[in-house]
Amino acid sequence: MSSKTDKDHYIINGGRALNGEVVIGGAKNAALAIIAASIMTDETVTIENIPDVRDTNVMMEALEGIGVRINRLDRHTIQVNGSQVENVNIDTENIRKIRASYYLVGALLGKYRHAEVPLPGGCDIGSRPIDQHVKGFRALGASVNIKGGVVRAHADRLSAAHIYMDVVTVGATINIMLSAVMAEGKTIIENAAKEPHVVDVANFLNSMGANIKGAGTDVIRIKGVERLHSCTYSVIPDQIEAGTFMYAAAITGGDITIRNIIPKHLESISAKLEEIGCSIEEYDDAVRVTASEKLQPTHIKTLPYPGYPTDMQPQAGVALALAGGVSTITESIFENRFKYVDELMRMGANIRVEGNTAIIDGVEGFTGAHLVVPDLRAGAALVLAALAAEGTTVIDNVRLIERGYEDFDRKIRNLGGDIVKTDDVRMEVKKSKFKVV
Ligand code: EPZ
Repeated sequence: MSSKTDKDHYIINGGRALNGEVVIGGAKNAALAIIAASIMTDETVTIENIPDVRDTNVMMEALEGIGVRINRLDRHTIQVNGSQVENVNIDTENIRKIRASYYLVGALLGKYRHAEVPLPGGCDIGSRPIDQHVKGFRALGASVNIKGGVVRAHADRLSAAHIYMDVVTVGATINIMLSAVMAEGKTIIENAAKEPHVVDVANFLNSMGANIKGAGTDVIRIKGVERLHSCTYSVIPDQIEAGTFMYAAAITGGDITIRNIIPKHLESISAKLEEIGCSIEEYDDAVRVTASEKLQPTHIKTLPYPGYPTDMQPQAGVALALAGGVSTITESIFENRFKYVDELMRMGANIRVEGNTAIIDGVEGFTGAHLVVPDLRAGAALVLAALAAEGTTVIDNVRLIERGYEDFDRKIRNLGGDIVKTDDVRMEVKKSKFKVV
């Protein structure tokens, strides 16, 4: 609930290269599913390396609301015990705001054969249907109906199915895994998503005693087991947070070493950064990005993993808007993921969006402006643009960024960026050297 004390703005004085080291946190989109899945046993599960961001905290709050006991051992480690779940009707105000609430349907259906969860919310980047989730639940024997904004799923018994996904979908692939791990028989998911976080959730479930093979390929085989048991599991590093800081080096002309990463997960991002002129040095669990004098144009099409990630599309848009020449970005996953373009144009970018393609004519530089965050990843990209811009930028609605980035402003300051969080724009801007245009 927003209140006067909520600090919801960033004030950024741009024009300084970011240099130094940053440590990446746990993957938000793996952690959200793993937290939901952790209630599928009555024993206690310990989860480490959870990012302390709004979405994971909202997910934990929703579980506590139905009687799940969550003990926070430290900022990034929790113990979860799902033995005292009183009902399967999730109804906390905040849960409607996140996309990942749909994992509660898969987890509750998979364990209790019943679930009542509000329809998911999440970033406004397209229609975001859940028809493939429903298709999977029904194939396993559940009846599913959506009324009054609530998804109700019920099954007397869940039994194996051979499910062909009509689109490659991260959420539905994970959700069908959750509902199938204790179904009778062997379920097969064809055309499955292969993202690192899909593999992480499968590894977590297997460490709880599930029998899942093939995660990371487009055919996942799940042999139902009687029950799941306790485990201790550490979430993988966040591929998208890492990619965002890689682009921070490229966009500000800096030199950043990003630590606690899995280089394999960043291959498509590294390849594009090299194409536009950056140099990339890879280590076992770190990557160093050094910007080039002038970024080069290129062409990008977002694709399911291992293609170029849609969650890294706005960051690439900012970099290409500063490249010397004409670039294009084609967004093939979501219908409405170019909303950051209007904000970038206020800073002097020259971009034309035609259908699902942005034609980007690179400019010499940006000037500061007053911006509003349209969605999570666009917000992070606009911060990078402001750090490269001449002058002061005010960014509103930064809580959307904090849904998925832990201590984003602090990590940027540690790299030499001039950024402050505030709830009173007027007071801070008066103090800054530049006039907000
Ligand atoms: C997950 O969203 C991520 N969110 C998104 O990250 C990410 O952009 C997306 O996967 C793609 O990688 C979470 O994990 C919480 P999809 P999700 O199902 O599961 C269509 C971020 O920034 N589709 O893979 O909603 C859908 O419309 C967020 O962290 C159906 O048609 O994505 C889209 O076009 C933003 N029917 C495509 O599939 C369905 O039932 C991919 O969506 C489901 C999806």
